[in-house]
Amino acid sequence: MSDNSGLAYGFVSRFNHWIIALAIIGMLAFGIYIEDFVPDGPQQGALLQTHKAIGVLVLAYGLWRVGWRLIKGFLAPAAPMPYWQDVISKVTHWVLIAGILVMPISGMMTSLFGGHDINVFGLFTIPGQTKIEWLSEFAEEVHGAAANIMIAFIVLHVLGALKHHVIDRDATLVRMTSGKSAR
Ligand code: HEM
Ligand code: HEM
Repeated sequence: MSDNSGLAYGFVSRFNHWIIALAIIGMLAFGIYIEDFVPDGPQQGALLQTHKAIGVLVLAYGLWRVGWRLIKGFLAPAAPMPYWQDVISKVTHWVLIAGILVMPISGMMTSLFGGHDINVFGLFTIPGQTKIEWLSEFAEEVHGAAANIMIAFIVLHVLGALKHHVIDRDATLVRMTSGKSAR
């Protein structure tokens, strides 16, 4: 199947981008809500089970989404821009790509090496491992730190997209929405 004409992202790339963008932003908000706004107790436990189950599905889709990008490659910038902006944009894309995998994997390691099963909506269960406390705690630290890093880079990413659209008036945003390669 053809995708990425060299000028615009193809349908698969655009579909994958927006599904995962929604999933990651939603899961960041969900995780923060559970940790910071729900008191410790059974309700928090139940919400965390849902967070974990969705997270495993996000990892499955994320593997396909990241794999597709690595195989197809990134497009060159939609319009010429200063070198430093090009560097920031590329670093941001790589951080986001890594985060799509690091977030769910670190979450799963927190649970599994904490000795807890992951039940994915009753469809299947990933069994908890023999408890390795330091590894579970390390993974939990990574999960929390990576969440903050993701939030910072997503903000930068969205501000960049808006700047290209509103100030530079180039095709950066539309080639990820409608797939048109020019405005
Ligand atoms: C798919 C991407 C995921 C995102 C964006 C995400 C995001 C978050 C966030 C923002 C928190 C709150 C952290 C804090 O306030 O310290 C959190 C907590 C948590 N998440 Fe996730 N999560 C994801 C996937 C997963 C998965 C797959 C699992 C396990 C199967 C998981 C297990 C946990 C656990 C156990 C906590 C509570 C412990 C902690 O403080 O880290 N998460 N998650
Ligand atoms: C509402 C929020 C978002 C907007 C408006 C947005 C916009 C864009 C745009 C316009 C591009 C194309 C850049 C170019 O052509 O050079 C892009 C690419 C990209 N975005 Fe986003 N994005 C958003 C959220 C996210 C999130 C949450 C993630 C990560 C989880 C993400 C990851 C990426 C990556 C990795 C690329 C590089 C191309 C690809 O692999 O899809 N974006 N984004």
